[in-house]
Amino acid sequence: MSILSESPSSHEIGRFHLEHLLQVGLTDDDGADVIFGLTQKQKTLPSRYFYDDKGSELFEEICTLPEYYPTRTETAILGKHAPEIAQLTGVCQLVELGSGSSTKTRLLLDAYEAEGYPLVYLPIDVSAGILKESARDLLTDYPQLQVRGLVSTYQLALKSLGESSLPGRMIFFLGSTLGNFTPQECDGFFAQVTAALEPGEHFLLGIDLQKPKDILEAAYNDSQGVTAAFNLNMLTHLNWRFGGNFDLNLFQHRAFYNESEGQMEMHLISEVSHSVRLNALELTVEFAAGETIRTEISRKFNLQQIQ
Ligand code: AVJ
Repeated sequence: MSILSESPSSHEIGRFHLEHLLQVGLTDDDGADVIFGLTQKQKTLPSRYFYDDKGSELFEEICTLPEYYPTRTETAILGKHAPEIAQLTGVCQLVELGSGSSTKTRLLLDAYEAEGYPLVYLPIDVSAGILKESARDLLTDYPQLQVRGLVSTYQLALKSLGESSLPGRMIFFLGSTLGNFTPQECDGFFAQVTAALEPGEHFLLGIDLQKPKDILEAAYNDSQGVTAAFNLNMLTHLNWRFGGNFDLNLFQHRAFYNESEGQMEMHLISEVSHSVRLNALELTVEFAAGETIRTEISRKFNLQQIQ
């Protein structure tokens, strides 16, 4: 594991540390998950490969689209309840899984600041670019804030948190990213979250509810084509990371609500029969015309499932 400490500018020395837990060859980040997914009957790719620096930027753009209701809805809910959350948890370290732009985090920081609590924030994200950029902005806006960023997958980060530097800890996971996990993956994830918390500590979860198909499908097929670009960008990311030759002109974005599974699905559909090579993985993949790679499930829940 390689640990780098970076300070975005001189007056912030000591308030910002960045740790890279994702160094190729040192961790589980070797593409075994890509080989597994692309050799299944229904080809799949792990959703975390959306989030290279470009993909994280595209996702931020998705969050501002009129059709993409989840971000503004969750922001409104969190804004309303953040003071109550701060009072409930008391002083604690704030650990965010998939922190991205940390926009919603500001609502929590404001509430903890208003209580006079010390502000210690641990953002965890697979994109180093967005992590550094967001941390720099937060450090400027919150002069008391200390940030320890982890460039990491959730699994690796949850194992590496160590003891909290404050009397408590709250792990939070917003944006309904839990919906990307299958029910089995959810079980594994909750076990890891539980292991990272002491009795009496807190977990805050934001998840999306089931709603009419037309609203859901519009949210993942926006009229400006940003979601399509986000989906296709995964192939660019894999080309770069694994020496691949995916031709983006041969694939198209597909998103639909799978009602029986209660999940939105995003696919990339191969227009023609062709093969793709990923040199670093010594993998050749054959595509039939019309065959798809499922790049994301986004499960939509009802209250009973949430409980
Ligand atoms: C960040 C995973 C919650 O599933 O809605 C947005 C990602 N995919 N548009 C979601 C996403 C397509 C988003 N999550």
